Amino acid sequence: MRLWRCTVFVAALLPFLWWAWQVAAGQAGPEPGQYLLLNFGQCALILLLLTLSLTPLMKLTRWKGFALIRRQLGLWTFSYGVLHLTSYLLFILGLDFSALGADLQRRPYIIVGFAALVMLLALAVTSNRYSMKRLGKRWKFLHRLVYIALALVLLHFFWVVRADMGQWSAYALAGVVLMLLRIPVISRALGRIRPRHGRVASTHRSR
Ligand code: HEM
Repeated sequence: MRLWRCTVFVAALLPFLWWAWQVAAGQAGPEPGQYLLLNFGQCALILLLLTLSLTPLMKLTRWKGFALIRRQLGLWTFSYGVLHLTSYLLFILGLDFSALGADLQRRPYIIVGFAALVMLLALAVTSNRYSMKRLGKRWKFLHRLVYIALALVLLHFFWVVRADMGQWSAYALAGVVLMLLRIPVISRALGRIRPRHGRVASTHRSR
């Protein structure tokens, strides 16, 4: 399981290293700042969807390994979100905070992205065992914020693209499917589906 956790760690770190390398090597196009901003944003969204897919996957396969990396992937989601924000502040705003007000008026979707990031921050800081114990039942309630965060990120992205909706639609569809899998009736049905090899194993045993 340690190897599994390390593999996930390296896999999540690789995109960052690759894009940083591309920028350092001058392979990131005419606007490396924009290149980093967009890639970090997309990566954060993909990681968010992956994090949300772990519980249904665990129910379906009954493999506990998916649960073991849930917190790690959640923290990576937040980290790429922070990298995305940092790219915006550094390369788009040029750390000129006096221009922030005008930019927010021109691109209100930034406020939506910011709200999503604040929610991801709340989830990241309370994702440890100590907070789980302290918050008790409220912990679960608080962590439902992840669904609102996903909706906000999709809205944020929708606002950015508008013209070419292909990619956005794919992410939105994935988000909708993951939400549907959370509906108690569907979630319970998912838990009852036995993985194929489980069926084979039980058939062998009964013979
Ligand atoms: C303070 C928070 C945030 C700021 C300031 C911000 C800023 C931006 C900006 C300026 C763009 C548009 C770039 C352009 O087309 O010119 C963008 C796009 C995007 N952002 Fe954010 N964002 C924030 C939060 C987030 C979060 C939390 C996520 C995901 C978890 C996210 C995901 C995306 C995605 C997927 C895109 C579209 C990328 C593409 O078109 O390929 N953003 N963001």
